[in-house]
Amino acid sequence: MHDKIADKMEFPPETPQPNIYPLRWETKSSKVEEIWDASLREAWNPKDLPWDTFDVSSYSWEEREAIAYWWTLLSVFDASAPPVFAEAFIKTYECHEEDAIRRCFFSVTRDEQNHEQMCGLAITKLLESPSPLEYEPKTELGRRLQKNARWLYYNGGRYWNGYKQAVPKYSLAVLFSSFLMGEIAAATIFKQMSQSCEELVFQEAFRNIGRDEGRHMAICLSLMERDYPKLSAEEKSIITKQIRAGYLFLSAVLFEPPAEFWDLPEDFIATQREAEEIARQAGFGVPSFDAKKDNWRAAMLNLKAVLDKYDTPFPAIPEVDITGQEVTQADLDSADIIPIF
Ligand SMILES: [Fe+2]
Ligand SMILES: [Fe+2]
Repeated sequence: MHDKIADKMEFPPETPQPNIYPLRWETKSSKVEEIWDASLREAWNPKDLPWDTFDVSSYSWEEREAIAYWWTLLSVFDASAPPVFAEAFIKTYECHEEDAIRRCFFSVTRDEQNHEQMCGLAITKLLESPSPLEYEPKTELGRRLQKNARWLYYNGGRYWNGYKQAVPKYSLAVLFSSFLMGEIAAATIFKQMSQSCEELVFQEAFRNIGRDEGRHMAICLSLMERDYPKLSAEEKSIITKQIRAGYLFLSAVLFEPPAEFWDLPEDFIATQREAEEIARQAGFGVPSFDAKKDNWRAAMLNLKAVLDKYDTPFPAIPEVDITGQEVTQADLDSADIIPIF
C-alpha cells in the first residue's frame, strides 16, 4: 500500500534516478536525428512488394523447399530480432539516453519486425504453410531440410537466454560493438542477395532490408564515436570476447555454422549445401562457399578497422584468416552472447 504524502508537502520527493522514463528530450548528436528522419522517409510495407509477379508454381517443389529453407535459416535470426531490439530499446529509456537515440532504437525494432514479416510472407507462399517446422514436406530433400530447420530453431533458442542475462549487465557501449557486428553482417548479405536474386519480389525486399540495415549500422557507429573514447580496459576485453562469440553465432547465416556454438547433426552442412545449390540454380542467389567466406571476412575486417580506431583488441578469427587476440572456448562459456542481427 502506498502511503499518501501529497497533503504533507508542497513538492514530491526526488524520484530515484535513473527511472524508466526520462522527462527530457535532449539530442546532442545531429547524426542520429538525421537517421531517424531517414527511417521514416524510407519506411516500407512488405505486403506492398510486387507479390503478384511471383508465381510459385513456376518452381518445382524441391526448389520451393530449398528457397523456403534459406528464409527459414534467416528467420532463426530475424524472428528473434524484434524482441531482442525491444529489450535494447527499453534499456535506452532506463539509461536516459538522448531523445533521438531512443527513437532510433524504436525504428530498429520496427524495421526488424518488417524483416521478420518478410520471412513469414516468403515462407508461407513457398510452402503453402505458415510453419516451416510443422508443414508436411513434399520431397525427400524437404524432409531433411525440415530436420535441419528444427536443429537451427533449437540452437537459436539458446541464444535468447544468454542475451537476456547480458543486456542488464553491460553498458550500451559494450552492447553496441555486438550490435554493429550484426548490422555489418546483415547489410553485407542483403546487398549481395538483392543483386543475385532473379525474382523481382526478392530483389526489392533485399534492397529495402539492406537499406534498413545500413541505417542500423550508422546508428551503432555514431554511438561508438561518442562512447568508445571513454571505454575502460575491462569493457574492451568483454568486447573482444563478444566479437568472437558474435562471429560464431552469426556464421550460421553468413557463412557456415561452426561446431563451437552450433550443436548440429553430422549431415547438417551437406544437406544445407545441397539445398543452396538447388536454390541457386533456380535463380535464388545464395552466395557460394567462397563468396560467403570472402564477404564475411571483408565484414569482419570492416569491424576490425572500427575497433582498431579505439584501441580495442580484435579476436583471432582463423576461419577467415584474421589474426588477433586468442579467445578460448572457456572465455566464451563464461560470457553471455549479445550479437544481434
Ligand atoms: Fe534485420
Ligand atoms: Fe538490423
